[in-house]
Amino acid sequence: MNLKRKDILGMRELEAEEIALILDTAESFKEVSTREVKKVPTLRGKTIINLFFEPSTRTRSSFEIAGKRMSADVINISASTSSVVKGESLRDTVQNLEAMAADVIIIRHPASGVPHFLARHLRQSIINAGDGTHEHPTQALLDLFTIREKKGRLAGLTVTIIGDITHSRVARSNIFGMRKMGMQVNIVGPTTMIPVDIEKLGVRVFSRIEEGIEGADVIMALRIQLERQNQSYLPSLREYARLFCLDLARLERAKPDVLIMHPGPLNRGVEIAPEVADGPYSIILDQVTNGVAVRMALLYLLIGG
Ligand code: CP
Repeated sequence: MNLKRKDILGMRELEAEEIALILDTAESFKEVSTREVKKVPTLRGKTIINLFFEPSTRTRSSFEIAGKRMSADVINISASTSSVVKGESLRDTVQNLEAMAADVIIIRHPASGVPHFLARHLRQSIINAGDGTHEHPTQALLDLFTIREKKGRLAGLTVTIIGDITHSRVARSNIFGMRKMGMQVNIVGPTTMIPVDIEKLGVRVFSRIEEGIEGADVIMALRIQLERQNQSYLPSLREYARLFCLDLARLERAKPDVLIMHPGPLNRGVEIAPEVADGPYSIILDQVTNGVAVRMALLYLLIGG
């Protein structure tokens, strides 16, 4: 089976069979990163452009590592060091990159829909590395991969996502992906940070963290996205932490073999207590490790054939 598309824009579009294909392919690529010489020739002669209009540690560097481990040429461009600061438009910027024969453009942008706009106008494959509050599909794919690796399955598991759901592209992508893979999703957060009608996506909503994590197999804590909030949704971060911080006492409500996840960056003591982030249930750094394998799989499936 192949992917049915030239671009990876969101989990909403991907079919369950395509998600399974990406996870299976990532499984075979994970081994490359354990070798003494972490390199295969799969993408020799291909050019990958990382075009980031927002800060990133994990996503940008793992795409770069993924491309380099597959022998592709990888170019990183950030808005602050490009001709965007001289007034060049997004369309002109990417048309110039297209003229240099890039094979895939990976884009992160603060405006929702920008990757979709590029996908309509460019021949190259486009990968959405996070667009505004809309989607972050590669994060959801690495999250699904990590859960499947640890639990041996996805269908039938209950995942509780805690935090600023309204402004979280990670939450949206995970909800789409997890529901497609047969998982139950619980949402927990202040009512000001839960989108109206989110139940229509097939999730259960809780306003008390203790109820939302009861019986959870996996708990995912999210950062409050202050940079995307144009008004105050909370009395204070201290108040948020009092009501929603994932600490050891609250964890007791979850299953004994619960997994703790966070997409990063962490705000320790706000959405997650340090002893939980660093504790035995945490698989936060496994998520980061698996991000490389999942992104290798995506690059292979889009431009490696
Ligand atoms: N999870 C994630 O997108 O992290 P970065 O912002 O560091 O890429």
